[in-house]
Amino acid sequence: MPYLLIILAYLLGSISAAIITCKLMGLPDPRTVGSNNPGATNVLRHGGKKAAAITLLGDGLKGLIPVLVGHAFGLEANWLILIGIAAFLGHLYPVFYGFKGGKGVATAIGVFLGVNLWGGLAFVATWLVMAKGFKISSLAALIATALSPVYFWVLSDGNGWLTLGVLFMALMVFWRHESNIRNLLSGKEDKIQSKEGADV
Ligand code: G3P
Repeated sequence: MPYLLIILAYLLGSISAAIITCKLMGLPDPRTVGSNNPGATNVLRHGGKKAAAITLLGDGLKGLIPVLVGHAFGLEANWLILIGIAAFLGHLYPVFYGFKGGKGVATAIGVFLGVNLWGGLAFVATWLVMAKGFKISSLAALIATALSPVYFWVLSDGNGWLTLGVLFMALMVFWRHESNIRNLLSGKEDKIQSKEGADV
């Protein structure tokens, strides 16, 4: 059962909420505009708040649902994080889009919430506080991501396997944000912007 769930999680993770939402709403393909990233931040820039919210929810749910199914089958945290990683890797390397996917933050949030609710909430709270302070999506995500292995180590009572899984996801998120990190270091990273132009 866990192996089947891992495969199904990867396939679910491979479905891009950003690409489908933009297509259905008649918006530009997020891979062709802005940062070219099929993720909620880029959809916000070029599609607006509603499309971004749907993208965030969709990408989050595809991380959360497989983990919750694992819970329902009584699987332990060690399996749950592997199932979550499969969904996360589906988002990063989607079989349906030539293995060119997104940066993984929303899907990681879904996985984190499913694996350990308090760890996931700590991530979300950190992201929100940093986003409010810096108004830069990637910076908020990178700070929350950097702290996530610590959160999970502490909140899972020192579950080494779970923390290792979270650390792996964190390293992947950093790797996928290479261009954002370069822009941050040179002061060129965009602030959070919505197509509507109003404050986000
Ligand atoms: O989660 C993605 C976000 O951190 C950055 O997105 O479009 O600014 O590269 P973007």
